[in-house]
Amino acid sequence: MAKLTIDNRPIEVPPGATVLEAARALGIEIPTLCHLDGFEHSTSCFVCVVKVKGKPGLVPSCATVATDGMEIESESAEVRDARKMALELLLSDHLGDCIGPCHAVCPAHMNIPLMIRQIAAGRLRDAVVTVKEHIPLPSVLGRICPAPCEKGCRRGQHDAPLSICLLKRIVGDADLAAPEPWLPERKPSTGRRVAIVGAGPAGLSAAWYLLRDGHAVTLFDDHAKPGGMLQYAVPEEKLPRAALDAEIALITRLGAEVRLGKRVECIAELRGDSDAVLIAAGELRPGDAARLGLPASKTGVEADRETLATPVRGVFAAGGAIRPQKMAVRSVADGRAAAASIAAFLSAPSVVGGVSTRRESSRDGDVPPTVSVTRHDFSTHIGKLREGEMPVFLAEATDSPRVEPASGAAAGFTEGEARREALRCLHCDCRKPGACRLRRWSAALDASPSRFKAERRNFVQHRQHGLILYEPGKCIRCGLCIQVCARAKEELGLTFIGRGFDVVVGVPFERSIAEGLRKAARDCAAACPTGALALREGEDPSPPR
Ligand code: SF4
Ligand code: SF4
Ligand code: SF4
Ligand code: FES
Repeated sequence: MAKLTIDNRPIEVPPGATVLEAARALGIEIPTLCHLDGFEHSTSCFVCVVKVKGKPGLVPSCATVATDGMEIESESAEVRDARKMALELLLSDHLGDCIGPCHAVCPAHMNIPLMIRQIAAGRLRDAVVTVKEHIPLPSVLGRICPAPCEKGCRRGQHDAPLSICLLKRIVGDADLAAPEPWLPERKPSTGRRVAIVGAGPAGLSAAWYLLRDGHAVTLFDDHAKPGGMLQYAVPEEKLPRAALDAEIALITRLGAEVRLGKRVECIAELRGDSDAVLIAAGELRPGDAARLGLPASKTGVEADRETLATPVRGVFAAGGAIRPQKMAVRSVADGRAAAASIAAFLSAPSVVGGVSTRRESSRDGDVPPTVSVTRHDFSTHIGKLREGEMPVFLAEATDSPRVEPASGAAAGFTEGEARREALRCLHCDCRKPGACRLRRWSAALDASPSRFKAERRNFVQHRQHGLILYEPGKCIRCGLCIQVCARAKEELGLTFIGRGFDVVVGVPFERSIAEGLRKAARDCAAACPTGALALREGEDPSPPR
């Protein structure tokens, strides 16, 4: 047995075990990409490096045998920086969009390509689950949103962007028309109460997500009806109140208590009955913040931009109450972010709340550590396409022009029109965003895809195989798929082609991916640490470590 320490924790491992295996035995997770248990290590990625005390430099833990007396550091700044740099080098010539360009620019960060695939497959009930993960008012926003996502839609570079807003609207409308509109399952009650001042888009959105998480929610609004600016500032012909009222009714059916005609003079009134307070009262007039008992900024209530916590412990602010909002979708996004912050505060009040990430001390006196609870997903971006690359994207989309609703935009799509429009989508997002370890570790280590810039590869997709798709621009040349093919005794399999920096993985003799992978396609997709080899329908069924 070899006795060693990792981060000062002693461990004994059998002779021949690697440092990576010893770390795993201690429950220490070390990132890996090119390593797969049971396969030869290629030691090509270097994201698994650790420091051996007394030795110069760093070593790859996946290929370093643990020996008696070793003292390993796996979490020092030096190790972290080296892993991050290894990832950034891999990202420097990586060509893919983890999330679709539309998804990246949607202020609510909705998974638009997934919604579109569900519409194309006629699965509107699944689509509403996708939509309401980020937008609890799709029928409303589907009528009034200026659709910044459509400006980011790649199809717009070819003919016209997808009609994303109308697609979202039909998902919401079909749900409202269903005998039992969809409601998320609520988590068991936490016994915590949240008071929300303002039943406009930010407050309603926060209520939905807090209720879903098992908190009790009371919305206070000084108007006679809920909805805020949606109710009182948008013309009826643009937003029929029936749609607004029906979507609000779902939030109350989920459990929200709404107290109307109730002007909250000061948050002190609410704090006795509530564990947290959210100010979502829309744009405030001068003096309103002070009247409520909150510090003011130039644009509204003072709140941290990330956590949305005000300097008063347990009080948060969202939407127009912090700064004027031009788009309701931003308020909806803010409401969801505030709900996440409040949920974090309610589960660990010493960690979030009453403090800004940029402030040294809270006004309540103590100095809790801070966390970021509103981090957006990591994504690499292809950016502008080169000549000849659009046809690659268009290969599986219909070439129909943008579908216009036959009964006019105000009537929206029929289900058939929606399906036809959905089939225009280029499916720009990666097929393995959840299983890709390059993405996972890049997000965890805050790696920047643009720190190093290597020569951009051309966007290519090998789509001759019925089960899998191969995108060489996402290949990190780890060779795992080559080993999988060899083990499966593939006749052709995959191999390294070319030399040095120009090496690529491909089928020998310029044969197709379908000919190369007759037996091992699924296993290759499972072994590939990135989205380079992925199932055509998306995600890997059994992602290995
Ligand atoms: S392979 Fe990974 S890093 Fe690359 S686009 Fe797909 S999810 Fe993102
Ligand atoms: S083509 Fe589809 S996936 Fe691509 S940006 Fe447009 S809506 Fe999103
Ligand atoms: S395609 Fe093969 S060589 Fe490239 S990243 Fe995937 S498993 Fe590694
Ligand atoms: S070098 Fe160890 S996982 Fe890649």
